[in-house]
Amino acid sequence: MPFPGDSLLAMRVLVVNGPNLNLLGTRRPDIYGETTLGELEERCRSWGRDLGLVVDTFQSNHEGTIIDRLHEAIGAAEGVVLNPGALTHYSYALHDAIEAIGLPVVEVHISDVASREPWRADSVISAVCVTTISGKGIDGYRLALEHLAGLEP
Ligand code: DQA
Repeated sequence: MPFPGDSLLAMRVLVVNGPNLNLLGTRRPDIYGETTLGELEERCRSWGRDLGLVVDTFQSNHEGTIIDRLHEAIGAAEGVVLNPGALTHYSYALHDAIEAIGLPVVEVHISDVASREPWRADSVISAVCVTTISGKGIDGYRLALEHLAGLEP
């Protein structure tokens, strides 16, 4: 799968957003802010350029489609930023996919999941992610890209 703006030197990072994040900007703006998914993805590409990364973006509301996209990242990306939405809290299939692809995955949540409903405090994927960034708003994606940019090759 070709990466847009592919380069031999730049680290390629896939930014994946899961269920309901296509509604960013209108879904609970009090919690998730007013930035749309399109604006967020553009910002990720721009932050990536500043960090010397090539960023590709993907969103799906479907667990299996997200897992397929993660599998496609094998050999096509060196890192993943993943906001799995509510799949975070129950998808063991996503846990296994993250483990299987062997790439550093940074878990991102726009909201502070620890301070919301108790069921949101549990993540079944954190154990297989290199780090988790939660409650930093859209800026959490920039912090995740910075984290990946700082990893040893
Ligand atoms: C979220 C938090 C999840 O609990 C929720 O289901 C989401 C978004 C976040 O970015 O804060 O869809 O991952």
